[in-house]
Amino acid sequence: MYFSCDDTAVAVVTSDRVILSSERITERAIQRKQGGINPSVCAQQHRQNLPILIEKCLEDAGTSPKDLDAVAVTVTPGLVIALKEGIAAAISFARKHKLPLIPVHHMRAHALSILLVDDSVQFPFSTLLLSGGHALIAVAENAENFKLYGQSVGGSPGECIDKVARHLGDLESEFDGVHAGVAVETLASRSSEFGHQRYPISFPSVGKADMNFDQIKGSYLNLLDKLRRTEKEKVNVSDFCASLQNTVTRHIASKLHVFFDTLDSEKRLPKQLVVGGGVAANEYIFNAVSKLSSAYGVSTVKTPLTLCTDNAEMIAYTGILMHLNRSESIYWRSEDIPDTI
Ligand code: KG4
Ligand code: ZN
Repeated sequence: MYFSCDDTAVAVVTSDRVILSSERITERAIQRKQGGINPSVCAQQHRQNLPILIEKCLEDAGTSPKDLDAVAVTVTPGLVIALKEGIAAAISFARKHKLPLIPVHHMRAHALSILLVDDSVQFPFSTLLLSGGHALIAVAENAENFKLYGQSVGGSPGECIDKVARHLGDLESEFDGVHAGVAVETLASRSSEFGHQRYPISFPSVGKADMNFDQIKGSYLNLLDKLRRTEKEKVNVSDFCASLQNTVTRHIASKLHVFFDTLDSEKRLPKQLVVGGGVAANEYIFNAVSKLSSAYGVSTVKTPLTLCTDNAEMIAYTGILMHLNRSESIYWRSEDIPDTI
């Protein structure tokens, strides 16, 4: 089961990596009309949609609760009020059907989802996760041990791109309800050769492999306001998107560079880099990351599009890996499930 922000999702997955059923409801259109994510609306949507999705998923999978081995649920990070709805539903389902409950870390699940579909990926692997809530660079030693090398200390690439896009215009509606990030990528691809250099901003400054997308967002929002106030020229939306996308990409690449340099010099750089999270769907960003990786002899593995953006199968499969490990600290037998997590 998955519910950490505006998506409600449920899936039934087997340990031999078959996705028996998967359902997701995204009420982005409603949220957009309200100018962004509204936590209490999210929670209400989860409460309303969850029982329907659970029932539908079990039916689609041809499974009854007694055929299940365990329930996995997202516990962090995310919108607390939304997470609580999922956790409450998972606790009551697991208790009712006497199933163990496995609390799953959303970002780890983004990294591990690749194991559902790609046999070539082996531990330890490096991972770059770029989503609407976070950005991080880590090494996955195994399903439960991740060593963090860098993370965003201000905002996320997804939120940065989405927010600037919203100020540029109602791009999501123009592009038929897709993520704003997709609209920005499409518009940026229509920009002229040097279009990405047309709207320069000061590059964010943050130490080591850490990132700061709030600085990038703030600079573009200020620039946009300034351009509109002075009204000397109409903002070229494609060039503006290209500039934004290019700055976000360079920031990510520069931090990946720091990470590669550090581990390479210590001769412990894993041979694979798994790139995941919603923003990893962006081809421009992925290609830049891939080019940098190959300079270090690292092969870049892209999470398939369907698993890049939030989904329940990644939570289910991470739960399976933990269930198989019977990890004491993070695994509750039915009789030990606490009232809250
Ligand atoms: O991982 P995800 O589905 O949800 C969170 O965990 O936050 O990521 C959602 C983010 C949104 O900000 C969305 O605009 C962004 O992923 N996204 C993209 C693209 N497709 C989705 N950002 C840039 N380019 C894309 N093609
Ligand atoms: Zn996510």
